[in-house]
Amino acid sequence: MKNIIISIDGASSTGKSSLAKALAKHYSFKHIDSGAMYRALTFYALHHQLIDKNHFDIDTLVYHLPTIEIDFSTDDFVTLNGKIIENEVRSMEVSNFVSIVAKETLFRKFMVAKQRELGKKGNVVMDGRDIGSVVFPDATIKFFIEASMEVRAKRRFAELTQKNIDVSLSDVISNIENRDHIDSSRDDSPLVIPENAIVLTNNEDGLSHLLEVAISKIDRLNH
Ligand code: DC
Repeated sequence: MKNIIISIDGASSTGKSSLAKALAKHYSFKHIDSGAMYRALTFYALHHQLIDKNHFDIDTLVYHLPTIEIDFSTDDFVTLNGKIIENEVRSMEVSNFVSIVAKETLFRKFMVAKQRELGKKGNVVMDGRDIGSVVFPDATIKFFIEASMEVRAKRRFAELTQKNIDVSLSDVISNIENRDHIDSSRDDSPLVIPENAIVLTNNEDGLSHLLEVAISKIDRLNH
């Protein structure tokens, strides 16, 4: 298969990144986690005290943009100005602010341009919120992943506790609910099911079932 773009969209913790990673491995494609890019910018803003509970200095962050290089290492870990920050971007602190950063049009434009550049050679699996709707509306195949709140909260809680991050299940649920609200109601590129997307449900069957279904849909394109 050549120059294929697979888009996977969905709300947070629905399992889209795990599916994207597994598909990329199966087809030897590159995996681009676009959420990690928004997380990297949020990490930068937090690190430079440009955002906290009471303020967000958008103008200064915009001013810094030309000096901010967000990319991926050869093993698909997100980098900020050349440094791998894959663990740092998964913190609850970043999770609590990322939707506020991601709703700003100027930052979205910056990310979309970079995502298109990263995907232009093809053979990529990119996951996010607006990949099939905005970044690559002509993607070869589009998936949209759904999952119940219970499945999502358990997934995120397990991920965080595995990394020794001390958090309660109720904090995880309120973070997911809050992000759902901001990501779906923002003016610019809200979370939607992209046109022609195949909707898959991630339930208790887990990744292997989802992967099997996705591979059968992709392979069908070639026959
Ligand atoms: O997929 P994630 O939970 O790591 O994404 C983090 C945040 O980034 C999410 O709350 C919304 C934003 N995001 C976005 O607006 N557009 C994307 N393509 C990917 C993520």
